[in-house]
Amino acid sequence: MKVLVDRSDVERFRELVAVRLGLHFDDAKLDFLADTLRERTAAAGCGPASYLDRLAAPAGWREESGPLAEALTVTETFFFRNGDHFRALLEAVLPSRATAPGARRELRILSAGCASGEEPYSLAILLRERLPALLAGCVTKIVAVELNPAMLRKAEAGRYSEWALRETPADVQERWFRAVGRDFQLDPSLRATVAFEPRNLVDEDLAFWQAGAFDVVFCRNVIMYFRPDVARAVVARIARALVPGGVLFLGHAETLRGLSEAFHLRHTHGTFYYERRGGTEPGGAPEPQRSERAPAPGPAPAPAPHPPDGSWVNAIQDASDRIARLAGTPGRASTFPDAARVGGGPVRASAVAPRGCPDLGVALELLRAERFSEALDLLHALPPESLSDPDAQLLRAVLLTNAGARAEAEAACARILEVDELNAGARYLMALCREQAGDLRAAVEQDQAAIYLDPGFAMARVHLGRLARRSGDVSAARRELGQALVLLPREDASRILLFGGGFSREALVGLCGAELAACGGAP
Ligand SMILES: C[S@@+](CC[C@H](N)C(=O)[O-])C[C@H]1O[C@@H](n2cnc3c(N)ncnc32)[C@H](O)[C@@H]1O
Repeated sequence: MKVLVDRSDVERFRELVAVRLGLHFDDAKLDFLADTLRERTAAAGCGPASYLDRLAAPAGWREESGPLAEALTVTETFFFRNGDHFRALLEAVLPSRATAPGARRELRILSAGCASGEEPYSLAILLRERLPALLAGCVTKIVAVELNPAMLRKAEAGRYSEWALRETPADVQERWFRAVGRDFQLDPSLRATVAFEPRNLVDEDLAFWQAGAFDVVFCRNVIMYFRPDVARAVVARIARALVPGGVLFLGHAETLRGLSEAFHLRHTHGTFYYERRGGTEPGGAPEPQRSERAPAPGPAPAPAPHPPDGSWVNAIQDASDRIARLAGTPGRASTFPDAARVGGGPVRASAVAPRGCPDLGVALELLRAERFSEALDLLHALPPESLSDPDAQLLRAVLLTNAGARAEAEAACARILEVDELNAGARYLMALCREQAGDLRAAVEQDQAAIYLDPGFAMARVHLGRLARRSGDVSAARRELGQALVLLPREDASRILLFGGGFSREALVGLCGAELAACGGAP
């Protein structure tokens, strides 16, 4: 008999799943959630309301969490996924440990959300082969935790399809796997080096998440499925369990932006990872490390043409309208430009709030009119507490960059990044400043960081694409300019106003298309 579930049942189910498993399902996935609720309710032999009551009670939840995890999790994984992470670990993180004062003789690694084991086993293989040369006498401990019981069973069996080995070099496959029918069996001696355990990352367990329990955490392609409040709590737990200076690898599509300030962003081997604050980092504003794959510096680009642009007026008008709306919303904490992720996170309201706070709308109008020094004077006339506002600081950095006051602009960006290292807007402005200084390699790195932190940041892609073109990296230029062309039409008007360098959306699209055509791409 088909179980009938209504919208309120599904909403209740969605909330329980988010709170208990962390998993967030948006409205587009409601049908999938309704199907799962129907199936589980039918298996329990009751109606949806009593099934949901059962889930809300600890004993009922214990029984159902396994089947629900199996029904609701995304478990895609494979051996040596995102090889750049492993290279960064072996060639940057571990060698620096070897020289760190008081380095321990044990390397403790956590694979959080290990799925069917490919990630921790990849680590086990690499460390077995490479660790003795890197950290002589160092003992490795790899702990791998997972919510989905079916995945854990598969991990413990250590038997994999050819597909799971698609990124595994033939010689590694030869050394560590034995063909069994159409599958491949992992060497039992490696199997024994990983301690698997069932664990829900959402659950607090002080005995497991002890302060400083791990040196390295891989939590890749896990928090992207979590509701932001749960992701924040899980990352805080991971931060606590990492030693100061310990490192965290996330998936390529994941960032800590808006989730945690406990880490420095690091960049090496064409990838990003996070380092727990409090290690032996140098003082001052952290910079991403040099990427070995950054395009070589080339001649500085010619100054961009500056077409007249009527749409600035609309952009300003839109921003002002939003500001006015917000100003008329008592108690609302934040924000100018709608979704104004100008700095890599929603902009707080204080900068545009009406009572005694800076009116950035006027300064934005002056920016639009390219009256940079007047806008700067206006900002400087603000009370000191307003000037420390992140929005005001970012706008000041934009104005200084546009005014060509490079050293001051860089200092302003550095101050923003000292407080908010994951501020994509400040990274992008840094890129412009470094380009002005002729340091194209650093400009590329800062753009790459901005894009990593905010993949939808169209102007950073335009800039990176132009830098790549000038350095002769045609394929990178095509990739970034092509992406920018897709993103520009939906880029927030206020971000174009702030970061577009005086170009309208249409002019930026035109510029980008011309650049793309010049490097042989199709606009
Ligand atoms: C997409 S897989 C990623 C596997 C591996 N980390 C990788 O990047 O290849 C995500 C895994 O996280 C697990 N997961 C999801 N929510 C979890 C939770 N609350 N606690 C522990 N594991 C969870 C899922 O069951 C799934 O196996």
